[in-house]
Amino acid sequence: MFITFEGPDGAGKSTHIRAVKEFLEERGRKVVLTREPGGTTLAEQIRELLLVKSAEAMDDKTELLLYLAARAQHVSQKILPAIEAGCDVICDRFSDSSVAYQGYGRGINLGLLKQMNDWACQGLVPDYTFVMLLKPADALARLKKDGRELDRMELEDIAFKERVYNGFLACAEARPGRVVTLDASDAIETNRAKILEFLEGWLETEKR
Ligand code: TYD
Repeated sequence: MFITFEGPDGAGKSTHIRAVKEFLEERGRKVVLTREPGGTTLAEQIRELLLVKSAEAMDDKTELLLYLAARAQHVSQKILPAIEAGCDVICDRFSDSSVAYQGYGRGINLGLLKQMNDWACQGLVPDYTFVMLLKPADALARLKKDGRELDRMELEDIAFKERVYNGFLACAEARPGRVVTLDASDAIETNRAKILEFLEGWLETEKR
């Protein structure tokens, strides 16, 4: 099973990702936890380029190509080998982030983006995607509360974040079978229960 977690910055994916890993491991499954951009040495180096604040503005095309370069490396070197070895893979962000951030956020043509993304990731599509949705103002408040320094993407203005939020909404609406949407302003326990209940149901159908 290939599971991805998505959502705006500050929506709080990490807690749930850890819970899903534990849940699957308790059931005797081998789990590989990974993230994007990153997951391999080279892809983590590309992550640095993407997230560090620089005096030189990054062109939108450069940004998309770097995210896709990191993904191509990650898919071929880590995700596909893990799936072939029989592991479940849980990934913190994947293609839907490119649709939301580079497609809706930056305004890159969605058809072109899909073609490039499919090519970069060899057509790999998650089995299930959990999208944690949080309105930009609330997400920003959470990021500020965390107190850590914001990266290049997190420093974008509220209008960009609104477009990204709408992009995630559109992804969820377009793919109701694969994408499960959660309201990140609900209690952590409520969302954890929903996610685990969903996966329990999936494991039951797999047994049959
Ligand atoms: P993330 O790992 O969630 O950041 P953090 O460590 O701060 O939680 O994601 C890094 C940033 O990259 C995030 O702002 C979303 C962005 N991103 C894209 O714009 N496009 C993509 O394809 C991916 C995978 C991430």
